[in-house]
Amino acid sequence: MNSLNEQSTLVGHPHFHYKDGVLHAENVALDRLTTQLGTPLYVYSRAALAQAWARYRDAIGERPVLVCFGMKANSNLAVLKEFARLGAGFDIVSGGELHRVLTVGGDPAKIVFSGVGKQVWEIRAALDADVKCFNVESQAELQRISDVAHAMGRRARVSLRVNPDVDAQTHPYISTGLKENKFGIAIESALDAYRTAAALPGVEIVGVDCHIGSQLTDISPYFDALEKLLDLIDQLAQNGITIRHLDLGGGLGIRYTDEVPPSPKALLDQVFERLQARGLDHLHLVLEPGRSLVGNAGVLLTTVQYLKHAEARNFAIVDAAMNDLMRPALYDAYHGVQPVVPRKGVAEQYDIVGPVCESADWLARNRSLSVQAGDVLALESAGAYAMTMASNYNTRARAAEVMVDGDKHYVVRQRETLDDLLRGESMLP
Ligand code: LLP
Repeated sequence: MNSLNEQSTLVGHPHFHYKDGVLHAENVALDRLTTQLGTPLYVYSRAALAQAWARYRDAIGERPVLVCFGMKANSNLAVLKEFARLGAGFDIVSGGELHRVLTVGGDPAKIVFSGVGKQVWEIRAALDADVKCFNVESQAELQRISDVAHAMGRRARVSLRVNPDVDAQTHPYISTGLKENKFGIAIESALDAYRTAAALPGVEIVGVDCHIGSQLTDISPYFDALEKLLDLIDQLAQNGITIRHLDLGGGLGIRYTDEVPPSPKALLDQVFERLQARGLDHLHLVLEPGRSLVGNAGVLLTTVQYLKHAEARNFAIVDAAMNDLMRPALYDAYHGVQPVVPRKGVAEQYDIVGPVCESADWLARNRSLSVQAGDVLALESAGAYAMTMASNYNTRARAAEVMVDGDKHYVVRQRETLDDLLRGESMLP
């Protein structure tokens, strides 16, 4: 896709635009950054993070909503600190993520702890930190949390993650609210599970939780889930179980190609309308957005190493690979590709592939580009589930990360060194 004219903004990417024929993040020219720092390089825009946050903040207004950033999307400390500073809470799924939030001074009273496999040490650490709530995904986990808390002389605040059996109409790997998914407690068994919880000594029921999937481009599945959860909350009230908050999870999509994702305001307005209609507008709401807060705030820069014109296809072999950006290999995901310094020449069709020894190591397919070896390409929408899913496959060092702020840039994660990769390993004596 080489259709950009030289003054345009990357579609869907606030604060990434062409100036004087060079792609910039805010006021920083990305060709200069890569000369200085090399590639592959993740570049985030601080202003884009703030803008994504403001969409939620403005949509919320005075309504009682806590936004807990689904930090699995991007857990760089600089990103977390930025959201903490803006007032975000965090949705964590591991003791490791808790450690990151505490490291940046995030407020434990705004942490919700999700995930199907919480271990004893993680439960202890979260109780020590005094997190807001555990989102409990099974009866067995409920029992374990109660036991751990009780032994510590504590009561853990819990929500049960209910699986409402709705189809989020997204990629099957990121759809989580269907019966066949491993997540949550089936809506039919939820009342029983709440009754069990109410009788346990180590837990205090505070909420109801669900998360139906990710990259939702239509909001109607949220309302299918909401109605079921509100029915449950009514039933719980009849059973003497009072719910203080309703957690609707994350899931709002972003723009990768031509999606027109629903806005936080569209979601919130309708949710509150329905709460009001059901006489439940005293409930506090929790949201756990990940992708929609960071996805369009970052790009991955990569340098073309070789062009290969094979019989069936043309390949641009770049220095980023599936270990840097796994989404195409794993979900067949689409990431736009733009040259950092567009060329005037005739465009050809290319597959953008990495050096890893797997046929799944592709980043983009069939893109029309005018490109030469040595050119730097930007893979779009790489702020979410990109660096956090990176690995060291093929003994490749993970990329550096940079945060741009106006005309300044900060390296917020050093490029790994080869020695970093060997650290902790040893040979037999
Ligand atoms: N809450 C829970 C319990 C979740 O499991 C997730 C994402 C979120 C919140 C945040 O959802 P978001 O707002 O980002 O849609 N690696 C995949 C996405 C996996 C999503 C996992 N859960 C991808 O690259 O598309």
